[in-house]
Amino acid sequence: MNVNPHLILLILSFLTDRHQIVKFNGHYSSNRTLSTGAPQGSVISPILFTLYTDDCRSSDPEMLYIKYSDDTVIINTTNSNNRISKEIHSFAGWCENYLDLNTSKTKEMLVYFRRGQPTAATLEVNRQTIERVEEYKYLGTTIDHKLTFKTNGELILSKCQQYLFFLRKMRMFPVQPSVLQAFYKSFVESNTDLQYHALLKSSEPRRVELRIARSFPLTSPERPSHAEEPAHGYETDYRF
Ligand SMILES: *[C@@H]1O[C@H](CO)[C@@H](O)[C@H](O)[C@H]1NC(C)=O
Ligand SMILES: *[C@@H]1O[C@H](CO)[C@@H](O)[C@H](O)[C@H]1NC(C)=O
Ligand SMILES: *[C@@H]1O[C@H](CO)[C@@H](O)[C@H](O)[C@H]1NC(C)=O
Repeated sequence: MNVNPHLILLILSFLTDRHQIVKFNGHYSSNRTLSTGAPQGSVISPILFTLYTDDCRSSDPEMLYIKYSDDTVIINTTNSNNRISKEIHSFAGWCENYLDLNTSKTKEMLVYFRRGQPTAATLEVNRQTIERVEEYKYLGTTIDHKLTFKTNGELILSKCQQYLFFLRKMRMFPVQPSVLQAFYKSFVESNTDLQYHALLKSSEPRRVELRIARSFPLTSPERPSHAEEPAHGYETDYRF
């Protein structure tokens, strides 16, 4: 592969002899040496992970793998139970050699829009039945089996409401409007903006928008002329 041998030694030293201790309620666990994994927060860890899992690939063109750290998703768009079963077993085989697959944390979700239950056979991995769920939280977004994103909308709403509660409390004190706006942008708008596409798909966006607007009217940054008004003078204006 023509990799500089010094770089290989550097990576080897970076990965080997890593220790881990857990602190809980002031008590320490024993000191353990880690045999797998890469330290979080370093720039090289994601690259190493990508290299490590490079050969974990789908052998079926209609089976899509999404790999994100220890969260792997396999999407089946084929019309054959045998093919998905074959693919899952080939994935489980890869895991046996390289990463531990925890079957109790593995879930199956069938996406279907018709009424009634689909007839797909239950999945088994390492002689354990994989639990079938109706919604699944993947990378912070709750995906439901009818792709309504209703639960996801509710979760965003409740998260935003918690932060709006703090904003209302802060307004009782002589806090600068710019500070309130920064808080709003960081904790409320970041949630609604990031998840905007998921919110749009759901029936929830209007409700989320209205409830947020009602509980905390604030000028949008597009109107700097109002930005310096006292807090109680804010008008209802949202970037939805
Ligand atoms: C854990 O053990 C290793 C070697 O056994 C040692 O080098 C390291 O300092 C220990 N870490 C702590 C925090 O005690
Ligand atoms: C894979 O998807 C097809 C629909 O495209 C479905 O008929 C089949 O039952 C699925 N297989 C499994 C094991 O879910
Ligand atoms: C698998 O996950 C479950 C649920 O989080 C956990 O209780 C169990 O200890 C895990 N098993 C292994 C082998 O890590």
